[in-house]
Amino acid sequence: MPLTHTRDLFAKALKGKYALGAFNVNNMELLQAIVEACEEEKAPVMLQISKGARQYANPVYLKKLIEAAVSLTHIPIAVHLDHGDSFELCKECIDEGFTSVMIDASHEPFEKNVEICKKVVDYAHQHNCVVEGELGHLVGAQFDDGEEGGNYSMGGHYTHPDEAIKFVKESGVDSLAVAIGNSHGAYKFKGEQHLDLERLKAIKKALSDAGLGDYPLVLHGASSVPKDLILEINKYGGKMGEDTAGVPEADIEVARRIGCTKVNIDTDLRLAMTAAIRKCFAENPKEFDPRKYLSPARKGVKDLVRHKVRNVLCCSGHAFD
Ligand code: G3H
Ligand code: 13P
Ligand code: ZN
Repeated sequence: MPLTHTRDLFAKALKGKYALGAFNVNNMELLQAIVEACEEEKAPVMLQISKGARQYANPVYLKKLIEAAVSLTHIPIAVHLDHGDSFELCKECIDEGFTSVMIDASHEPFEKNVEICKKVVDYAHQHNCVVEGELGHLVGAQFDDGEEGGNYSMGGHYTHPDEAIKFVKESGVDSLAVAIGNSHGAYKFKGEQHLDLERLKAIKKALSDAGLGDYPLVLHGASSVPKDLILEINKYGGKMGEDTAGVPEADIEVARRIGCTKVNIDTDLRLAMTAAIRKCFAENPKEFDPRKYLSPARKGVKDLVRHKVRNVLCCSGHAFD
């Protein structure tokens, strides 16, 4: 079975009102865990590869590993560049056959972000690839000026609905990563905080009202940083800050219902893998066979992915729609 195009996965996810898990791949065990869980759940999946993953594992190894995963499973699999930081990197991935790329120029001023995205879009669309752009800054849960009154501030950290329309129309990107209080990594929030779901609704509606249809939105930084994993890591010798919290899974479920089509999860996979390895080392200090600690690590990631696709993203059972 060849790769499935990101465009087709998006179209089905929008129609079926579920979200696609976009899970980061850095090595064989992570990849096996993700695709085995999705195969068992009959869930379509997006595998995403960052610049750092390409530097760590080598693009050829990653490509061949994914080819193996595609040939050994029956579920639809798309391959996406996560946080592409230049036209050149995006072009490399497009030329390698990625079905989508993200060009992340969200740190640039609006017009420059548009210009950079447009250049990638022009190349990608000539080569059967689709593009994700990002507008706004992933600073974490905070209130942008005017947020409480519903009069969202222009040029703030969070994505503004009107700017989203202008950005999508001018850049031509096929999906949009939004900033609504989401943030990357294991230390997102202290205590429980929430996504600005009203703003997400407003962005979705604005794009639809502007004639852009049921436009696919993307949620980065969607790890929930499960407390039990943090405690497990620390129980077995880790020193992670325990007063940390991620995006509540209940918020992600609402975001999915509003129309977030792609949900990016990396940190939770790392936590699951680390917890299992630390436990194995602590309980078996004489162990030195990597297979002995990487097997439970793979199982930890697999259980986590299964939970996400089944209970949070609700894409289980949609592989063959
Ligand atoms: O959002 C970033 C992803 O978690 C990828 O992280 O650049 O360390 O591979 P990375
Ligand atoms: P997390 O750090 O919350 O897992 O976010 C991952 C991500 O956004 C990858 O692009
Ligand atoms: Zn991200």
